[in-house]
Amino acid sequence: VTLTVAREGGNKSSPLLFGVMFEEMDHSGDGGIHGQLLQNNGFQGTSLGMTSYAPVGNTEISQDTLNPVSDAITSSLKVSVPDNATEYVGFANTGYMGIPVMNHTYKSSFWMNGKYSGTINLKLIGSQSGIVYADHNLTVESTDSAFKQFKTSFNSSASPNGDNEWHLTLDGSKAAGSSLNFGYIQLFPPTYQDRENGLRDDLATVLSRVNSTFLRFPGGNNIEGLEIDTRWKWNTTIGPLVDRPGRESDWFYPNTDALGLDEYLWWCEDMKMAPLLAVWAGKSYGGIVSGSDLDPFVEDIMNEMEYLFGSEETQYGKMRVQNGRKEPWKIDYVEIGNEDDLTGGCDTYPDRFTQIYNAIHDKYPNIALVASNGNYSCLPPALPENVIIDLHLYRQPDDFVALFNQFDNQPRNQSVMVGEYGCRNTSSALGDYWSFMQGSCSEAVYMIGMERNSDIVQMAAYAPLLEHFGFISWSPTMYGFNSSPESITPSTSYYVQKMFSSNKGNTVLPVNSTADFGPLYWVATKTDSKYYVKLANYASDEQNVTVSIPKTESGRLEMLSGSQNEGNQPYNVTVLPVTTKLKGDHGNYSVTMAPWAVAVLVAM
Ligand code: AHR
Repeated sequence: VTLTVAREGGNKSSPLLFGVMFEEMDHSGDGGIHGQLLQNNGFQGTSLGMTSYAPVGNTEISQDTLNPVSDAITSSLKVSVPDNATEYVGFANTGYMGIPVMNHTYKSSFWMNGKYSGTINLKLIGSQSGIVYADHNLTVESTDSAFKQFKTSFNSSASPNGDNEWHLTLDGSKAAGSSLNFGYIQLFPPTYQDRENGLRDDLATVLSRVNSTFLRFPGGNNIEGLEIDTRWKWNTTIGPLVDRPGRESDWFYPNTDALGLDEYLWWCEDMKMAPLLAVWAGKSYGGIVSGSDLDPFVEDIMNEMEYLFGSEETQYGKMRVQNGRKEPWKIDYVEIGNEDDLTGGCDTYPDRFTQIYNAIHDKYPNIALVASNGNYSCLPPALPENVIIDLHLYRQPDDFVALFNQFDNQPRNQSVMVGEYGCRNTSSALGDYWSFMQGSCSEAVYMIGMERNSDIVQMAAYAPLLEHFGFISWSPTMYGFNSSPESITPSTSYYVQKMFSSNKGNTVLPVNSTADFGPLYWVATKTDSKYYVKLANYASDEQNVTVSIPKTESGRLEMLSGSQNEGNQPYNVTVLPVTTKLKGDHGNYSVTMAPWAVAVLVAM
């Protein structure tokens, strides 16, 4: 096949095209990209009980609802010290199926209530091995009148695996016969860009390398709530952590909400991603709120907007400043709901959408609003101008490829976002839907189709972002991990995303070809004199391709390939992109596309 790339012409491509979607699921946030490593640290939600806690030494521990740490953190951990105690006693927290312990400085904190004057010992220790990686003392003065917070930091050596726990013990001889209460315990490794209450540096760094342009958050199903009352509520995810109650989520575990509204926005800012914030639009799995019953919720959305954008003089803007963000946040995209065409939301969505659209648009006309579905029978009959329609596509590989031209003949005046997509192959040899080369190649074909149409496809978010391999309720994700430091596993789709997001011009160029699309697919873009040609070979045969880009001299070819069912596994990342330099023969580049390969040629 010969592809001849025109130097001029074509359409402008969307600067935001390739982003990612994040929602708290599979412990992607708590125990995942959010840095805090201790599970059930505030006894939030209703389902965890004593999960992750165990006594250390001769003592009894229990969840104590009579001694709340705060109005939001309604339980603490009671440590009952026996009359005859002489040694250190306390409790362990085993994290999210273990704790990654590295050669790092850790920050740790806890709240404490009860009379005690003396040493508290903190340890990071192997659960089975008993090897101590960190052993740190601090002196505390605690009374029984109120909970008081203690903070400290310490160095640790590295554990070879994730089978580790955090211990807090106290001098039993100084507390014999009494009980002490501990609450809202925290352990942080270094965080991304050193943010307080920030992201885990290693997991965040892996994402930052993708160069995604936007982040769609906080859901997904997880914004909706299994019940109306357990929906994601922006105002319970802000401010001091000890004032955040958390919630039972849509994905089978309580959310701590330590990764809250402001933390999402710091995340976007630190990774230079545009935020796409979803607001609750009246649909939960347990019911729908519409008509005038929705009014208080619309008011709540407007309070959220004031929190985000209001000046220090406004009630909610002032709260934002108090929470550490002086300037208004910059958010240009707000999505109204999630998948409102599903689970009974269709008939009321047009009115709910319009109510929320009018309220936000009247006050913030520059925000682009996103409708949560592309089902025209669930949308207002005439959508206001500048509304973006959000489509979600999880497909088998062949079905994705069949959608290559989905946008070719769409009206050019209706902008679209593909707010979630990913190949879910029910018969994947790797199990759990985890990405594999044929599936990732099919995503690349679909992405090429989107980029060719990126005059209308403004944004596309691979979904969801990541999973803790020990807690999977949804797969695939772009990357995964468990508590072992070496476990971070970029999927084959991660590399496709990285290659496509990192190599994108601002204009889509016409390409003349000697063959039709399939099994080879391509798109060419450029910015100034830099040309980007993306290629996908959705076949088990090699394809010899000549890419002709007149007046360029040299190129760099990055190619990801593997056998049809090959995918990356924890501790065994075998499929990685390989980069080679190409010399252009009068602007002609010879590329051998391996079977199931995805490639980007960058030429100048
Ligand atoms: O990303 C997984 C789920 O898929 C999302 O929560 C939902 O929006 C979609 O159905």
